[in-house]
Amino acid sequence: MEKSWSPGSWRQFPILQVPEYRDTDHLDRVENELSGYPPLVFVGEALRLKESLGRVAQGKGFLLQGGDCAESFAEFSPDIIRDTFRVLLQMAVVMTFAAGMPVVKVGRLAGQFAKPRSSPVEVQDGMELPSYRGDIINGISFARDSREPDPDRQLRAYTQSAATLNLLRAFAQGGFADLEEIHRWTLGFVSSTPQSDRFQEISTRIDECLRFMRACGVDAGSTQQLRETEFYTSHEALLLGYEQAMTRRDTITDDGGWFSTSAHMIWIGDRTRQPDGAHVEFARGVHNPLGLKCGPSLDPDDLLRLIDTLNPDDEPGRLTLICRMGSDQVAEKLTPLIRAVEREGRTVVWSCDPMHGNTITSSNGYKTRPVDRILAEVRGFFETHAAEGTYAGGVHLEMTGQDVTECLGGGSSRITEQSLADRYHTHCDPRLNASQALELAFLISDMLGARRVAAS
Ligand code: PEP
Ligand code: CO
Repeated sequence: MEKSWSPGSWRQFPILQVPEYRDTDHLDRVENELSGYPPLVFVGEALRLKESLGRVAQGKGFLLQGGDCAESFAEFSPDIIRDTFRVLLQMAVVMTFAAGMPVVKVGRLAGQFAKPRSSPVEVQDGMELPSYRGDIINGISFARDSREPDPDRQLRAYTQSAATLNLLRAFAQGGFADLEEIHRWTLGFVSSTPQSDRFQEISTRIDECLRFMRACGVDAGSTQQLRETEFYTSHEALLLGYEQAMTRRDTITDDGGWFSTSAHMIWIGDRTRQPDGAHVEFARGVHNPLGLKCGPSLDPDDLLRLIDTLNPDDEPGRLTLICRMGSDQVAEKLTPLIRAVEREGRTVVWSCDPMHGNTITSSNGYKTRPVDRILAEVRGFFETHAAEGTYAGGVHLEMTGQDVTECLGGGSSRITEQSLADRYHTHCDPRLNASQALELAFLISDMLGARRVAAS
């Protein structure tokens, strides 16, 4: 018999990465208040995403998931949100064109605030303080007050998520994403680079297709799919008190199940995926699409256990395995996982996170990622799936529409160790800037194009 589940059943399980709140009454009050707030997303939307991911699992689509490593209260502005959205849209257009299939767009946005840390404390100049755990928990500045977990930050994260989502919905449905506007999407600083030239070339070809379709009587005025786009949100479900407060029973469909309304899709991080742990317990009970980060330490038998727990009915689109092995061990670590899943005949979306296994420290002390390694992991991911006869279904990226200097090499500016300092703004891990992200999109589109040709 299935073990009973409730939004709070995770509290009975061992848990990692929990902040130590000093005033637990205050925390209870905040969680209680949040549980009465409106949902951020609707059940019907989460189910639609699950259907789309189900098509990806069957080889009929591609998942593009990307955005900040950590959103922050300081970097909250309409321009930043617009620029990230625009780059994701550009990447999706490039990939759709090459693959000839739908690209499912999911932002790491509107709720990506809580961060797992490798150490609970940070030491600077002999002083030890709690580590920064994301703006939903504490502050990034290295001072005792700021590092104290503050429950009220959850209310602010909720409000920022709601405002971000509101803008994203407006962008997706209010005309900005209209395919006929595609030429206008090229960002100032990406223009006159090889990537922007290639993007202009594609947009010109799309314009030609649209002109032809218009002549046949199909245009953005009459066809919603040309005028609007579907854009979903996701984040790591790490801070379970917040997640529990945002979990609601579905009152719309006949299902009556529980859903996370904090985002359309939530994922379990590589550090909190213990099969008997609290994060897995929480995620198994909500009916949203789920992601599971799969790092090099994941044993194939544990993966099968996790799949049994998280997707017992083998529902297509329910579970996306987000693999982050590192460019040097992608084939070696991914192959046994693929074989185990194939042997058991389980349905998953295989997605590649080429960011988290490729983080290094530069000689001048910056946490960075070489774009070459990022590209190499994506290439290795596609090659490994091709060798196993399985379907490489998506990518998961840390990126921004801003012209930051956080990852080395690549893109139009070929960032060096010296130039990392110029615009290093991330609150956590180094992100691809717009031109690096577009370069990666073209690499992926080449692989998708080659796969389409091979399959035809
Ligand atoms: C992340 O996605 O920001 C992250 C912490 O990833 P992982 O759990 O794979 O380390
Ligand atoms: Co990260």
